[in-house]
Amino acid sequence: MTKAGRRSKKRRKHLNRNSKGKIRSKCSNEQQTDIIISPKVKKYWLQRYTLFSKYDQGIVMDEEGWFSVTPEDIAVRHAQRSVSGGGVVVDCFAGVGGNSIQFAALGYHVIAVEIDPRKVEMAKNNAKIYGVDSHIDFIVGDFLQLAPYLKGNVAFLSPPWGGPSYKMTDNFTLELLKPVDGYTLFQVAQTITPNIIMFLPRNVDVFQVEELSWLSSPPLNVEIEENYVRGFLKGITAYFGNTAYSGVTQETSSHV
Ligand SMILES: C[S@@+](CC[C@H](N)C(=O)[O-])C[C@H]1O[C@@H](n2cnc3c(N)ncnc32)[C@H](O)[C@@H]1O
Repeated sequence: MTKAGRRSKKRRKHLNRNSKGKIRSKCSNEQQTDIIISPKVKKYWLQRYTLFSKYDQGIVMDEEGWFSVTPEDIAVRHAQRSVSGGGVVVDCFAGVGGNSIQFAALGYHVIAVEIDPRKVEMAKNNAKIYGVDSHIDFIVGDFLQLAPYLKGNVAFLSPPWGGPSYKMTDNFTLELLKPVDGYTLFQVAQTITPNIIMFLPRNVDVFQVEELSWLSSPPLNVEIEENYVRGFLKGITAYFGNTAYSGVTQETSSHV
């Protein structure tokens, strides 16, 4: 048997179904020995290394985290596309840390805002695994309330898309974003900086996204990019202000 065959057999041995049809996964990490993976999460679990390449070292996520974390290669791309030369990135909806970790890994200081205290604990754990926890200030709170007190070189917005059901609509309008519509969100982010990056569903109404640049006077530069992982379109990123047309050499669509 080949080495790869032996390895996949070993992985299969670590998976067994319990009576409720849930999958139980034994992890190589001692601290995280027995994780229950619900059928809803299974699809995302199978992609776990595209979410976090260091998954096996003890990465933790709750159910919403599995659905909503930015795949690692896209998070790297977001970090590369920020204003060069370091500075402060405000990660306005930090979740379990997918983006904050990659901004910090590229030398930015990150202010990571997240409303759910359990996710903040998970994000701290995950940042430690990547060795970047000392470059991130975690704040538990509502971004909409905190924004007037925050300053940064870049504001990164990865707001909730309303769960996996976002795929059910052909045209995802900015009104469907949570916790408030995309226009309000953008205006709040502008109090921090005009250099805004927004990670949005692949079916988002791009005309509405372009319109956001007109909320500023003079209108902001805007660039829209499609983000693929292994050939699948995972989302759309809109870059505003100095983050648009940064000169990072890659085609408009990032295939990672
Ligand atoms: C799409 S997820 C972010 C995923 C993140 N980029 C990552 O890679 O892990 C959106 C997050 O926003 C959080 N959230 C929702 N409303 C919020 C608010 N008003 N202020 C701060 N965070 C909020 C949710 O708890 C959720 O974790």
